[in-house]
Amino acid sequence: MKKIAFFDTKPYDKESFERQNNGRYEIRYFETRLTAAALPLADGCDAACAFVNAEIDRAVVEGLVKRGIKVLAMRCAGYNNVDFKAAYEAGLTVVRVPAYSPYAVAEHAAALLLSLNRHIHKAAARTRDFNFSLSGLTGFDLHGKTAGIVGTGKIGRIFADICKGFGMRVLAYDAFPNPATGLEYVTLDRLLAESDIVSLHCPLLPETKHLINAEALAKAKHGFTLINTSRGGLVDSEALLSALRNGTVGAAGLDVYEEESEWFYEDRSDVTRQNKTLSLLVSLPNVIVTSHQAFLTHEALANIAETTLKNLDDYFSGAPLANEICYRCLGTGGAKPNCPRRANGRCH
Ligand code: NAI
Repeated sequence: MKKIAFFDTKPYDKESFERQNNGRYEIRYFETRLTAAALPLADGCDAACAFVNAEIDRAVVEGLVKRGIKVLAMRCAGYNNVDFKAAYEAGLTVVRVPAYSPYAVAEHAAALLLSLNRHIHKAAARTRDFNFSLSGLTGFDLHGKTAGIVGTGKIGRIFADICKGFGMRVLAYDAFPNPATGLEYVTLDRLLAESDIVSLHCPLLPETKHLINAEALAKAKHGFTLINTSRGGLVDSEALLSALRNGTVGAAGLDVYEEESEWFYEDRSDVTRQNKTLSLLVSLPNVIVTSHQAFLTHEALANIAETTLKNLDDYFSGAPLANEICYRCLGTGGAKPNCPRRANGRCH
């Protein structure tokens, strides 16, 4: 039986993978993240499985291959944390779960937006204290407002539909506009200038790092609400903090944070050393931070487990790998003409 070294295990991961596994694989669950120091745990295994905040650098890639592990199953969609050049050179196949529930993430973005706008987080804290005052809890109708969607892939399109359901006008920006969406595409500058709500749904790439920086914020509609359920690195947190303080940004709902890997997914309440920017952000009344939990629904967890195990089934049976990330074709939106994936369905 093939053995999987499963890193960064949380109780909900184990539950969903055990339900889908049906004794196919021996899964060795480890709580630690996949790092170079944790590699000995993978000794004797045939595959490794890691999650979104693991830093899969050259040392990790080469360490896995040295141990005879030629496949890394990422149980997430994003892959900005993987050194693909190193993986390609070492012959490590990397598979992922491209979509597990775009609804989960889009609905979480909507939850952040509604909570911020109607001050649900403050109201819930007040009523717990038997404080039934409404002062300071005034929101605004979403109906008739403009939502700007940055990145109109699977999640962005669902969020656009949710906004339309509220009777909002929707503007979109995407590096690769898709006319089939029927969305009104505009430049990023125009989207920022006209939107009451801006929601980020594009990947973190070198060209999207700090897409929302001081310069972009200066062009934005005064007092807009920023929602980020995509990747923390899309937003310059220092610039956001200043904009929240001077009112340029009226509210921010953040499921991701650029330095989250050190903090998110764990109880860090006993750590005395704090991240200054994160501490200031969480302390603002018009900010809600959630711990990269937009994906966390029963449906999404079941899909993650099913697709991850199917990716490994395909790898070990020699079948084409629908969810392999190809170093040569990264960002090109499909296999390049000369890529072996076109002929073999695999990179290696
Ligand atoms: P997708 O691949 O379906 O869509 C991404 C869209 O971004 C595409 O339309 C693409 O053309 C566009 N894009 C690419 N480069 C761009 C650029 N430079 N500027 C503007 N747009 C650009 O991805 P999907 O499934 O919709 O996911 C979006 C993001 O959500 C992921 O990249 C991931 O980072 C994040 N995510 C967050 C989760 C969470 O739990 N918070 C869970 C799953 C995904």
